[in-house]
This record gives sequence, C-alpha cells and structure tokens, in this order.
Amino acid sequence: MAEPSTEGASQISPVPDNWTKRHLLGLEDLSAEEINTVLDTAAELKEATGGCKDKLSVLSGLTISNMFFENSTRTRNSFSLAARRLGADTVEFSAGTSSLSKGETLIDTAKTIEAMNVDIMVVRHHTPGTPHMLSQNVDCGIVNAGDGPHEHPTQGLLDILTIREHRGSLEGKTVALVGDITHSRTARSNIWGLKKLGAHVIVCGPSTLVSKHWEDYGVEVSYSLDDILPRCDVLNLLRIQFERQYTRPFPSIREYALLYAMNKTRMARAKDDILITAPGPINRGVEITPDVADGPHSVILNQVTNGIAIRMAVLRLLASQQ
Ligand code: CP
Repeated sequence: MAEPSTEGASQISPVPDNWTKRHLLGLEDLSAEEINTVLDTAAELKEATGGCKDKLSVLSGLTISNMFFENSTRTRNSFSLAARRLGADTVEFSAGTSSLSKGETLIDTAKTIEAMNVDIMVVRHHTPGTPHMLSQNVDCGIVNAGDGPHEHPTQGLLDILTIREHRGSLEGKTVALVGDITHSRTARSNIWGLKKLGAHVIVCGPSTLVSKHWEDYGVEVSYSLDDILPRCDVLNLLRIQFERQYTRPFPSIREYALLYAMNKTRMARAKDDILITAPGPINRGVEITPDVADGPHSVILNQVTNGIAIRMAVLRLLASQQ
C-alpha cells in the first residue's frame, strides 16, 4: 500500500491508539469508544474542511474503490467526495457495466480491482454478508456501504452524528425508528449504535414490519406512532422497502400514511424541539409529508452533509490500519 501523505495531517489530531480496525462491516462490531472515535474524527474533519467543502491531503497516495452492486445516490457520491476531500484517488466500479455479465465471479472481480493498487473498497451489495466475505478474500480494507437488509454502518453513524450535533449527547434521548424495520439495514445499524451510546430506542410500525423479537435487544416495540410520539426526542422515518418484500405488508399506502406518516397534525402533538431525520430516499406523502420534510424540525439535508464527514472519518481511520 502507498504510504499516506502527512501533508494536512498536522491540522488534525493523530488517529487514536484505540482504533485498530482494518474494516468497517457493521456497528454491531464497534464498541461505544470506537463509535465515539469515528464521531469525534468526523466532527474534526468537518471543521477542518470548512463544512466538508475544502480539501486536505491526509490521504493523498491512497486509492479508494466504490464497488456498488445496487443503486445509490447519497452513499456512493458522499464516499467519492469524502475520498477526494482527503486527497485520495477514486475508482468508480458499476456492476451493470462490468465484466460480471461475462461470468466473472465476485471474488475475482474484487481481486482484479485490488490488483489496481486499491487500498480500501467501499462495497454495497443486495446480499447480506457480502462485505464480510470480501474482507476474507482480499487484502485491502473493506467498508460496508449497505448489505441487503443487514447493516449500513456509515448511515447509522451519520444519523447519530446529526443527533449529537443538535442535542449534544445521545445519553437518555428517546429515538424512534418508524416504518419498515424488518427490511431496513439503517434500522439495524441505528439500533446497535444508539443503544451503545445510551439512547432509548423504540421501533414502531405495522406488526408485519416490526418484529416483537427486537425486545430481546433492549429495544421498545410499538405499533402506534400516536402513542409514542409525545415521548420522542428524535424520529427516524424509514422508507417502506417494497423492493425487498414478497407480499404487501399492509392493505394500501394510504392506510399506512394515515397511521404512520409524520404530518402537520402529528407535529402539533410532538415535543417542541423534536428532530425529524430520515436516511433517504424519502417518499413524500408516504412516511413524511412535504411540509414536515422541508420544515424547521427536519435535519434531513444536514444528514447528507454529515455523510461526507462520517465517510472522511471512516476512510482516515481505516487507512491508518492498512
Ligand atoms: N441512505 C442511503 O443509503 O441512500 P442511498 O441508497 O441513496 O445511498
């Protein structure tokens, strides 16, 4: 691997000794201390780059490959920007235009990209465990950018960073994840991360999309948004992931929206300082109405900017261990 340039590194703190991970596969694997290391590094890099706009050269000489086997707007572009903000080169791999269609295996494809002197691969795949499998078959660092319904660790981290920026701490805060919990990798990463930092987590949605088994992980389960709403400090409104469902989990979108959409009427019953978050993409009129999505409590676009900060932090921390 190319030695990372130290130019620009003097402006930011050294990587803490407690960081030893070569891969980021899920928040289930990180301790509270490691999560705080990522959050603190992200906050520092956000500041040092003037809000994720300016460039540093702390990762010059490194090459990051974005390997996306599933569509993405936020994750792909923000990993790409994060790498370039830190001075790394990027390789954009798209499954649809690759030689996978000619019969090459996933592992051969990954080894081929790695042989182009790639240091870290960012992997999104519809099959859970794909980043884990690749981490055992290539030598470079692997970041899970979403593996099916399993985990999306950088999304969980950017959600938590956004809450921390607005509320100072996660300790004792009540955060409700609302919607399609069953098919949501964002929900799983949020649950692991939020619980480790001391938040009270509620999962809420129709019983066909919210398993009672989440109680085994210390999470409150609710089937009524109206019941839990007055207690919530933060709502994370999840998209219904029809592409991962084999049967309709509720009679109609209209009925879902009546029971679970965050709208003007429900906002009037929420805490005065409630934070409205969503991983995106949002479906206006389904889990959120436009006035709430674009209203003063919404931090959805702050989350997008923080996505660059978190991904800069993850790349810097992992690069130190390659
Ligand atoms: N939140 C999220 O992962 O968005 P993309 O699918 O656009 O990357």
